[in-house]
Amino acid sequence: MRIGFFGGSFDPIHNGHISMIEGALRSGAVDKVVVIPAARNSFKRGRTLSAAPYRFYMVKETLDDLFGENVEVSDAEMFIDGISYTATTLERLCTEKDEYYWICGSDILPTFDKWRDPGKILSYVTLLVAKRPGDTTDIEHEKERLQDIFGDLLRVEAFDIKGYEEASSRIRSDGDLSNVPAKAAEFIKTHDLYGSGKAIYDASDSAAEAFLEYAIAMYPLLKKKRLLHTLNVGLLAARYAKLLGSDIDKALIAGCLHDCAKELPVEQQTELAKRRCGDLFTHERLLHSPAGAEYAKEVFGIEDEEILDAITYHTTGRGGMTVLDKIVYLADKLEPARTYADLTDMRAYAGSKETFDEAVRLCLASVLDKFERKGIGVHPLSLEFASELFGDKPS
Ligand SMILES: [Fe+2]
Ligand SMILES: [Fe+2]
Repeated sequence: MRIGFFGGSFDPIHNGHISMIEGALRSGAVDKVVVIPAARNSFKRGRTLSAAPYRFYMVKETLDDLFGENVEVSDAEMFIDGISYTATTLERLCTEKDEYYWICGSDILPTFDKWRDPGKILSYVTLLVAKRPGDTTDIEHEKERLQDIFGDLLRVEAFDIKGYEEASSRIRSDGDLSNVPAKAAEFIKTHDLYGSGKAIYDASDSAAEAFLEYAIAMYPLLKKKRLLHTLNVGLLAARYAKLLGSDIDKALIAGCLHDCAKELPVEQQTELAKRRCGDLFTHERLLHSPAGAEYAKEVFGIEDEEILDAITYHTTGRGGMTVLDKIVYLADKLEPARTYADLTDMRAYAGSKETFDEAVRLCLASVLDKFERKGIGVHPLSLEFASELFGDKPS
């Protein structure tokens, strides 16, 4: 089979990308396109891109909606340590049995020889370059120039595409989604990717980079919905921390890791929970909180006790909740993808420093109410939390 790889950051995926994929398939040069979202940004380290799982799932939802089996999205880069260069990714993906192409704009040709390991790249793929209307690159001239450097290793084919000139950076800053496919626009709105997502800019470089790395590390640990949830909580917690003048880095990290242990086998959760706080939590639904703290400590090297406590008590609350505890507790219930019916008032109260505690009260009252209706016993820690907020009973 002839496979065309198409790599990029896709933050977000837009109609320019779609026309590249369509054009490559229409050209007949390839039977299938495999899209590879980059897990990390090789040019501006750290904070410029949305966390990798957001971009991977946004691309996947979008392309599954628009194409059939002839377009696939690869998560290969999630499993490569450090920044992945094209040659590294190709080494991992190419096998003897297929023929490979690298889909790109013709504007890469003048600088292709400056890429890392261009010879190695050419040993795996034919360059399949898109020519936009009005494209001024002299493809024939560039081919000859590269031929002088790479000899017979160089193979270039060109195809025409419709004229989409779009930049993801403009979409991120303007919030104008008119050139974004419907599924991607829906994803961006659901996760408030370029609204709440911007909270990462308020964190320190080291916390922002840690957040992006944990997001990649949790990709194999959590299913799509939960992974995106836990990342949303991190970003919303950072936003609340900024609002309250609290520690943004700690909120970002505690929030994003709060559910990291939720899909571990129950036996492992039980063991981790015991190590964190003995027999304090025994109910299966609560285990992942202390287990998550212990996992964050052992696997992600988190030593800050305030962060570990905020993870430990995110399901039950406790007496003497710290500001960080409250931030994570509330962000867990209010992150943008949550759709419970009673969130409008809570979100409004949580949006101001003066009424933030009122949002916490409303949230706890709603949780206790749910427990009561389902006939689930309330954990003693939640009762302590409640009696501090309401006296004996929620009003
Ligand atoms: Fe949880
Ligand atoms: Fe959660």
